[in-house]
Amino acid sequence: MTGPGSPAEHLRAGGTSVVVALGDGRLPRILHWGEDLGDLSSETLRVIVETALPAIGDSRVTYPQPVPVLPQLAEGWLGRPGLVGDSGGRRWASQFTAVGHRIDDDPAGPVLRVDAVDDAFRLELVLELQLLRASGLVRQRAELVNRDDAPFRLGGIELSLPVPHEAVELLDLTGRWSLERVPQRHPFHVGEWVRASRGGKPGLEHTMLLAAGASGFGFRAGRVWATHLAWSGNQVLAAERTPADTRHLVAGELLLADEVVLARDGSYRTPWQVGSWGDGLDELAARFHRHLRSTRPLGPRPVILNTWEAVYFRHDVAKLTALAELGAEVGAERFVVDDGWFSGRRDDTTSLGDWDVDEDIWPDGLGPLVARVRELGMDFGLWFEPEMINLDSALARAHPDWLFDAGHGPGLPSRHQHVLDIGHPGAYEHVLARMSALIDALHIDYVKWDHNRYLLDAGHFPDGKPGVRRQTEQVYRLMDELRTRHPWLEIESCASGGGRIDLGVLERADRVWPSDCNDPHERLEIQRWTGLLVPPERQGTHIGAEASHTTHRSHPLDYRAEKAIWGHLGIEVNLLEADDAERARIARWVAFHRAHRELLHHGVVVHADLPEPAARLEGVVAQDRSEALYALSLVERPRTWPLGRLGLPGLDDGTTYDVQVVTPGGEELHGPQSPWISDGIRLPGRVLRTVGLEAPSLDVDRSVLLRVVAVR
Ligand code: DGJ
Repeated sequence: MTGPGSPAEHLRAGGTSVVVALGDGRLPRILHWGEDLGDLSSETLRVIVETALPAIGDSRVTYPQPVPVLPQLAEGWLGRPGLVGDSGGRRWASQFTAVGHRIDDDPAGPVLRVDAVDDAFRLELVLELQLLRASGLVRQRAELVNRDDAPFRLGGIELSLPVPHEAVELLDLTGRWSLERVPQRHPFHVGEWVRASRGGKPGLEHTMLLAAGASGFGFRAGRVWATHLAWSGNQVLAAERTPADTRHLVAGELLLADEVVLARDGSYRTPWQVGSWGDGLDELAARFHRHLRSTRPLGPRPVILNTWEAVYFRHDVAKLTALAELGAEVGAERFVVDDGWFSGRRDDTTSLGDWDVDEDIWPDGLGPLVARVRELGMDFGLWFEPEMINLDSALARAHPDWLFDAGHGPGLPSRHQHVLDIGHPGAYEHVLARMSALIDALHIDYVKWDHNRYLLDAGHFPDGKPGVRRQTEQVYRLMDELRTRHPWLEIESCASGGGRIDLGVLERADRVWPSDCNDPHERLEIQRWTGLLVPPERQGTHIGAEASHTTHRSHPLDYRAEKAIWGHLGIEVNLLEADDAERARIARWVAFHRAHRELLHHGVVVHADLPEPAARLEGVVAQDRSEALYALSLVERPRTWPLGRLGLPGLDDGTTYDVQVVTPGGEELHGPQSPWISDGIRLPGRVLRTVGLEAPSLDVDRSVLLRVVAVR
């Protein structure tokens, strides 16, 4: 540990620099987070610290100074408090003194650890800030320890990442069921822009990221910074600009009354607050993608056939076996039996919690279907909703005390269901045992893990004390324990679609289900914005029915398939009702995806910033820039026609490429087209980026795929 005298530390990794002021015993202040600053001498660091102080000699109370990562009222901070807590009305205005710090060279990246104490309050604080080598993401967390006999009742800890004055615009996301991740932008005014999740999961409307950037920042240009909380429970993300014009991004867990009461020597550790930055959103997102790819590398993503939209609850052995056979024929590699397989489950009103195979529908269990699936060369997945319970279930009848109850009974039903309190040891063991037994017996490869009701009144029975934090920890424990017991197991995080997407769950889950909406018109945007955090191979992207089951809009197969090939491909079309021609066409798209998934699932995601609001041009470029695939789509009738020239982002300026329109389904383009559309074209990367190509003629909700290969 270095003493409190060292003025600053400079962490460098993954193309990012973070400079942290540490002198004078105060909590660390980040003076720079972003562009790599190169090697800096201690003299330069000293000057950076000195010049970070404003020229006005004001009292501390107006706080025109760099904001500590955990700002405190007692230090003159009038903004969002970094720490809220007390002991029966005492010990509420903490004032920590940093007593030392050190830098650990963790294999994942350097960690700055700062120890601080509040002697008067007998509280200790450990702050850790890590720069991740593979991605250049920064992350920080805090641990609070109570050293007093008086219990410390924690209201919450929020950590801050500063952004410079250049950050004048905010971007965050909102949404709802089947329309997740809708972007909204607005100026970064003085005040607080706060996005909170209180439903026991981030939620369908959750922002996932909160970004602040330079005026007009886009995907390719404009510096931008963002924060995320690696946590699947209640949380808050905020952007705060003070009247003294300090700007910062805040993240923390939202705690309910008495959820964390620290007895003597008890401690609480925050989830990681994660920060990314980039020149444009593509670079910012690429850091998250690199992080996930480096911490949890995945093998080739097997094409899924999911039964949900094909049969819903109408399970029938012969029908599902035939569906599996047709799935294998079109190239599926994993067969996932969705909701409807367990005791008495004929609709969504009953049986959640009774994780036994329904004997009426499956007289010989799931074994024969699983055997057939394996014979067909596919692996097998099964749907569960482990944290939920129906009042009409054997489980609820046997253990009414395992339901959450804050004092008014089980509360409002949602989709006829309630929440099972897996903070209760018996409930946890029940779910673990049932899931584990089935996973073992059938050697289940994949669990689609659903979560459809929010935690509204999640009190432990009988005292009603809040259990949201504990529930979140128990979900992680359950996932971890299942994976330890069954190391081959993959998990999908689904919550009525994209209701639980965060880096906490993604430490355990192999993919997320971004939305129940398979309409390609909506999916284009949902996948694009989910992609700010989640790389394509971890987003489930399925070919849905011709008439979307959620929007009732119809789209041709080629457009539905094109929007699905980018991610972890799946099929939800009812193949039992599809004719030979349709199945052959699906097979061609599946084959195309399988031939290119190495590129699609390991490449760099790029989006062009087009002046025409109706057009989208996005793609994936190989890490070595030797090849790429792009899709140009129209989401409405364009104001500008023809669209003009389109620059292809992400290629190597100095390499020459062949560009070709590809039509995996055999689709035809309508209208007059430039000759290059049929003949292909050869041009240097620099020309493709700057001059671009004359855009193809296109109708609304149609796309053109471009395959780009470097000339050797
Ligand atoms: C909600 C999910 O989002 C759907 O994909 C499906 O699994 C249903 N639940 C099943 O009840």
